[in-house]
Amino acid sequence: MTDRREFFAGLAVPGVRSIQPYEPGKPISELEREHGVSDIIKLASNENPLGSSARAIEACQQQMHGLQLYPDGNGFELKQALADKHGVDISQVTLGNGSNDILEFVARVFLAPGKNAVFSEHAFAVYPLVSMAVGARLNIASPNAPDHDMPYGHDLDALRAQVNDDTGVIFIANPNNPTGTWLDSESLHAFISSIPEHVIVVLDEAYVEYVCEDSYPHSLPWLQQFPNLLITRTFSKVYGLAGLRIGYSISHPDLADMLNRVRQPFNTNTLAQTAALAALEDTDHLNRSVDSNQQGLQQISKAFDDLGLQYIPSVGNFICFKTALPGAEVYQGLLRQGIIIRPVSNYGMPDFLRVTVGSAQQNDRFLQALTELTGASK
Ligand SMILES: Cc1ncc(COP(=O)(O)O)c(C=O)c1O
Repeated sequence: MTDRREFFAGLAVPGVRSIQPYEPGKPISELEREHGVSDIIKLASNENPLGSSARAIEACQQQMHGLQLYPDGNGFELKQALADKHGVDISQVTLGNGSNDILEFVARVFLAPGKNAVFSEHAFAVYPLVSMAVGARLNIASPNAPDHDMPYGHDLDALRAQVNDDTGVIFIANPNNPTGTWLDSESLHAFISSIPEHVIVVLDEAYVEYVCEDSYPHSLPWLQQFPNLLITRTFSKVYGLAGLRIGYSISHPDLADMLNRVRQPFNTNTLAQTAALAALEDTDHLNRSVDSNQQGLQQISKAFDDLGLQYIPSVGNFICFKTALPGAEVYQGLLRQGIIIRPVSNYGMPDFLRVTVGSAQQNDRFLQALTELTGASK
């Protein structure tokens, strides 16, 4: 077919024209097709190596007979369960087709040409995508320096300095993906207090359940104080339901009302709602997932130390690291051995790679392959 790229780019709105499409982790089926390898492990998209909660799977199986019906467009049961769990009113909860969906609602409601979105360099890749799609400018703050104790993480003073009268939204990932860096309660609270009320502060807590640091914020009570705060969370990570696409936000009810005006009526499907509801009750699966991740973080960090590899200390379920070889070479070398990790050059970190914490056996296999690859370069 003739190349029509220029033609359609000319028709597209300016913000969309300059978007670099999101690069997801390579799916297992694609690696099978491309390299003919089997026994593949995917440590590329921060998914839960323990799988989904057995209770969620069972609940979905029982739901399979009702799929001719539209889902509950208001997601009443799941929203009520989330409201009970978090001690908020149901009117404060908004459901998304993944938490990315919520990020998109925020951009559509609060950003436009003439407005800007503030976020840190190396922050989660979806913030620029949703902001550019609606024609907003990007005010990108410099990150912490490489020798900071949260290297490449969010610098709150630099973020604050990017805020002006035209700022519609600030996006903060805590912890941030891909860096794994985080912000403590005191400094984040002081930061939000310093932000004018006309700016929506999105606090993206996709990995909150994994964080085991005492001074990590309990941000939900802050909603009482900051009507412009919106906290996003997801069932894709610790709950192991990435394939069903379900996330949510908690905010002031009137802010939620605005988001619901742009939400598609059936944006979250029946199985996703059912699975999420069951997963919420499965604290055993959650605890095992968090324990396994803690052990995996230690296993991988210790191996990186032993190998003399530089890495960014992480509180999430992933770690960014650097080797003496070019990142792309290590990525390809691991692919040939059936191990998918994630290059992060699209995050402005071309020297780094990001690996998701897997099961102990998966981590072993990754570390062994990495040792062979990087050892061969000495
Ligand atoms: C920081 C952060 N926020 C949000 C998301 C979106 O997750 P989902 O749309 O699957 O809920 C991710 C996924 O990788 C993430 O890393």
